[in-house]
Order: sequence, then C-alpha cells, then structure tokens
Amino acid sequence: MALWGGRFSAGSSSMFRQVNDSLPFDQVMAVQDLQGSIVWSRALYKAGVLTADEQKQLALALSELKEQAEQGLLDFSASTEEDIHSFVEAALIEKLGDTGRKLHTGRSRNDQVATDFRLWVRAHVTSLREDLHTVLGALLNVADRHREAIIPGYTHLQRAQPVLFAHWCLAYVEMFKRDITRLEDLTTRLNQCPLGCGALAGTTYPVDRHAIAEELGFDGPCLNSLDAVSDRDFVLELLFCASTSMMHISRMAEDLIFYNSGEAGFLQLGDAVTSGSSLMPQKKNPDALELMRGKCGRVFGALQSLLVTMKGLPLAYNKDMQEDKEGAIDTVNQWHCCLCIAAEVLDSLSLNESRCREAAAQGFANATELADYLVEKGIPFRTGHDIAGQVVLKAIQEGCAIEDLSLTSLQAVCDKIDEDVYPVLQLEYGINKRNILGGTSMQTVSDALDKALSELAAKD
Ligand code: ARG
Repeated sequence: MALWGGRFSAGSSSMFRQVNDSLPFDQVMAVQDLQGSIVWSRALYKAGVLTADEQKQLALALSELKEQAEQGLLDFSASTEEDIHSFVEAALIEKLGDTGRKLHTGRSRNDQVATDFRLWVRAHVTSLREDLHTVLGALLNVADRHREAIIPGYTHLQRAQPVLFAHWCLAYVEMFKRDITRLEDLTTRLNQCPLGCGALAGTTYPVDRHAIAEELGFDGPCLNSLDAVSDRDFVLELLFCASTSMMHISRMAEDLIFYNSGEAGFLQLGDAVTSGSSLMPQKKNPDALELMRGKCGRVFGALQSLLVTMKGLPLAYNKDMQEDKEGAIDTVNQWHCCLCIAAEVLDSLSLNESRCREAAAQGFANATELADYLVEKGIPFRTGHDIAGQVVLKAIQEGCAIEDLSLTSLQAVCDKIDEDVYPVLQLEYGINKRNILGGTSMQTVSDALDKALSELAAKD
C-alpha cells in the first residue's frame, strides 16, 4: 500500500503509476536515503520521540539495508513501491513492524528527497573530480612524451602560427582545471542540509538541525524551510558544470578528429578506441571522439530541461520537481564515461611528429615573423604587415614557402630585407620568440608542463 493510502478509497490507475512512480530511477539514491534515515532516527531519539531501544533497532535495520544497498544487493525489480523513500520504509516495517512505522515521525519526503539528492550529488562531485584529474594526467603525459613536437596552430581553422603540441595539451589542462574548481564552488552552496524542514513549514519535533547537518557531513542546516524543500539550484549547477565540461571535451574531441583525419594525418588513435566499417574494409573511425562530441546534446538538454521544469514553479514542493533526477543521473553517467574514454584516447594516441612539423611549416605561418622582422628594421608594424602580405602573394605566385624565395625576390618587395631574414623564418624561431608568460616557447611550455606535473603529483 502507498505511504498515503488512508485518505483514499480507490487505488491508483496503472497509467498514473507509470507516470508517478520514481523507484525505477531514484533507486540510485538508496544509500543516501538510508544514511539520512539513520541520522534522522538519532535525531528523533535525542528529541525524546523514540526510546533508546527503538532507535537501536531502527539504526541496526537501516545499517543492514545500507550495507545491502552498497553491495547492490537490494532487489528493486519486484517492488511495487512508489519511490526509494517508500521502498526503504516498507523494508524497515517488514523487518521491525510497528517500530519501523515510527521512523517517518516529523519528516516529509520533501525534506527527505532534497537531502538525499544533495548527498547523491555531493558523492558524485567527489568521483567526477577524480575523473577530471585522470584526464589531466593523460593530457600531461602525452604532452610530456612529445615535449618538442610542433603542430600548426589555427584560427578560423586556417593555419595561423605554429605552436607546440604540449601547448595545445596545456590549453585543455586549463579548461579541465576550471571544471574542477567549478565543482568545488558548487559544493560550497550545495552543502546545506534540508532535513528537519518537514513538508514545507518546518517540523514540530525539537530535533537538533545543526547536529543532523553535521552528522551528514553538511556545513550547516538550510535556513528557510520553504526554500530548503523547493530548491534545486544544486542540480542546475551540477548540470551546468557538466555542460561546460562536456563542451570542453567536445572541443578536444573535434581537434583530435581533425588531427586524425587523412588530410591532416598528425596522429593515429589506438585500436581500442576506434571502430571499423561494415562495408569499407580500410576504415578506422574515431567513434569514441565523435561520441564525446555527440553526447553534449543530451547533457545540454538536461540542463535546459530542468531550467524549464523549475521556471515559474510556485513555492514550495511540486511533483514537477521529480523530473530533476533522470536527466541528472544520465548526465553524471555520460560525463563520467566521456572523461574516462577521453583519458583512454589520449593514452592511446601516437603523434606523427614529422608530419606535424611539415604541416606547421606550410601555410605561410611564419608571415607574422616577417612582419616583426621588419619592425626590428625600423618599419612601422602596419607597413611591415602590408609588405609581409605582398611577400606571401609572391610566394603563392611562385608556388613556394616564404623562406624558399630568393633574397632578390624578397628585396624586390622591400629593400630592408636582408640575408638575416632566413633564420627568422625557421619554425623554431617563431616558437621560441614567444617566451612570454602563457606563450608557446619551448622554455615557457616546458616550465608550465613541469609545474602542472608536480601539482598533479602533489594532489595524489
Ligand atoms: N519521488 C519524489 C521526488 O523525487 C519524492 C518526494 C515526494 N513528495 C511528495 N510530496 N509527493 O520528488
């Protein structure tokens, strides 16, 4: 029977149950529901609602159930209970009879679900931070394996200026580090405890809300009961963190898909993270990367969906809010999988350094160096830019690179150009000139990489 059956004379329709029941998905919060219930039983004992013996029985039975939940031994498939809260209460009553029927005193599923879900998100924040650190490790390792490799740097997907491959890796390190701090920020706001707020107005029993919060590892209790039971900001923030991080993953995936293309040929991916074609025997497709890119759709969708669900909801709890879970659960799964597979892809890739270098040297990517060279000869930059543009045009007409033009050809464009221009046009010159903080010189990148590697090692 439902928890609320007394007032009803007829049962629920099967279609209503299909729409209303959340056990098929909120069962993932079983451990958190049991954790909260154990603490609640203690609060009720301290408030004089339960005897010491009753509390002992409840705590023991709940702990047994929690152990089963942790080991994945609770069988939800045969249950007809509405949600995880009813499931736990029914299991408790089956074990303890009337004593089990006392646990819900002064509590509502509204403060219960808000507490459970915060605990669930908090646990996943911890594991997702670990996943992000795994990707950081994989990026730093692949950068370390190819410290001096040069790739073309792009803007508008046109070759712009050469950069170190390690510099590219460190760009994504910055993004994933921000994702970690974003999760940490979310934890500070999430870590307030709703338990003891009742259905909406607060509970009548004199439970110690500070002690409840502390026992559940929260920084303190939520300060307004109406807000506590109806706030889902922490889910929205999780979904935003996931969306931003998935966007970062998708950009990295897109870069790698392009680098792996036959046209670029900068790198090969491991067999373990690619797949073949049922028809074309030669194919080796970057499916893992494409899926990292593709899964952004459902993750961004979950964020949008919950925002729309929450928009305009009157205070306090409304059943609409049960729609907060499926998207969040799926998002956490997808984000976790994408971070794990991203690390595997990075571990598996082999960089073709000579092909990267060849591509970096093409596309007149040293034209900026020529303009800067002319600045050193006393020519204003805008004029130097124009001269370098004319040199590029000449090289296009002659079908060669800038550095392959003879001095006579170069001087025909500008007589300030001399023999000393040729070393300036070499790949390493342009790279190492950028020895500014955040730039791509060998020294700057090597220092940044060493720093990131030691920070990650210190974290473990
Ligand atoms: N399954 C519900 C949810 O996820 C639990 C809270 C139900 N509360 C209620 N008053 N019906 O939101």
